[in-house]
Amino acid sequence: MFIKPKHIIVTGAAGFIGSYLSIRLIRAGYEVTGIDDLSRGKQINLREIESHPNFKLIQADVGNMEVLSSIDADTLVHLASGKIPRYDSGLQVLQENDRVSNAIVQYCMKNFIRLLFASTSDVYGKNPNLPFTESSDLMIGSPENKRWAYALSKLHTEFLISAAGRSSGLPYQIMRFFGCYGPNMAEGWWGGPQSVFIQQALKNEAFTIHGDGAQTRSYIFIDDLVNAVFRLVEDVELDSGIWNICAEPLSEISVIDLAKEIQAIVHPDESLNIEWIPYETFGKYEDVMRRVGSAEKAKKHLNWEAKVDLREGLKRTIEWMKQRDNGAEPA
Ligand SMILES: NC(=O)c1ccc[n+]([C@@H]2O[C@H](COP(=O)([O-])OP(=O)(O)OC[C@H]3O[C@@H](n4cnc5c(N)ncnc54)[C@H](O)[C@@H]3O)[C@@H](O)[C@H]2O)c1
Repeated sequence: MFIKPKHIIVTGAAGFIGSYLSIRLIRAGYEVTGIDDLSRGKQINLREIESHPNFKLIQADVGNMEVLSSIDADTLVHLASGKIPRYDSGLQVLQENDRVSNAIVQYCMKNFIRLLFASTSDVYGKNPNLPFTESSDLMIGSPENKRWAYALSKLHTEFLISAAGRSSGLPYQIMRFFGCYGPNMAEGWWGGPQSVFIQQALKNEAFTIHGDGAQTRSYIFIDDLVNAVFRLVEDVELDSGIWNICAEPLSEISVIDLAKEIQAIVHPDESLNIEWIPYETFGKYEDVMRRVGSAEKAKKHLNWEAKVDLREGLKRTIEWMKQRDNGAEPA
């Protein structure tokens, strides 16, 4: 039997999603301890709450058991993670996510802390049956292809958490995020093509498109995604399980059309300038050709759905990036 959460740990609190979530939880009256080693995150993302009495940021490695054990919390949202190794070997993402998730699961099991884990739509891999539901098959490719290291590391954590749930009754939720964007998102490929394309459009550079650009993705605006995570934090009565956090299947868009959308907002009167990047540039690479999720489960059980359409979300994100690049304090 679970009581309502009071003190929530957010790992990766200074990152893109973690900072929005921490602010949302503080505004709702929770006590929040963020843990972030600031390897990727920025303290400025948390400026709204940095001196709030209910918020504390610990700058540390989240896999450090001593740090974890010093916190008396009832809920942990685990967001800290390495990402798709487009430009490295994949070793680090596998070793780091394994090390950190083992520590988190051990800590939550020992202290009976409800665990919410940020997984990814990448775990559906090459499954051709769309849209993906939470029970769809997970079809990743060969270990000789480093791009699957991220999906595999997330899947490993999903399996670890599910096993902990079965063996010790640990309450958990696994959240499979689809491509998220919005103000404060990471720069460069760490933030995904949405981030790269906006930067390129604002600098009047060619859009670097990997492959032929026909691969599709579905994007979700940060406010919508955080609303879903917030519901999952609050609803302690829900059975443990897996959740797609995505906009409707209608939000599917090809990478080339995403570039066109951004161009239409930033330079409506100019034609698209593209630099095609062959996949071979990253070594052996295999892209997911279509990625579309079903949000039915979240709509039905969380009474939630994504509200911000892509054009509107892109406009807000572009405005933020413009202000930031001009040195203005973003609203
Ligand atoms: N942004 C997306 O579109 C998206 C999509 C699918 C899944 N996800 C998942 O959501 C989570 C959050 O994503 P994000 O976009 O906010 O990423 P992010 O990189 O902005 O934030 C991650 C944060 O974790 C911190 N961190 C990493 N390793 C750490 C460690 N060992 N100890 C302490 N801090 C550490 C980083 O400094 C960073 O602030 C990640 O797990 C990511 O895999 C994100």
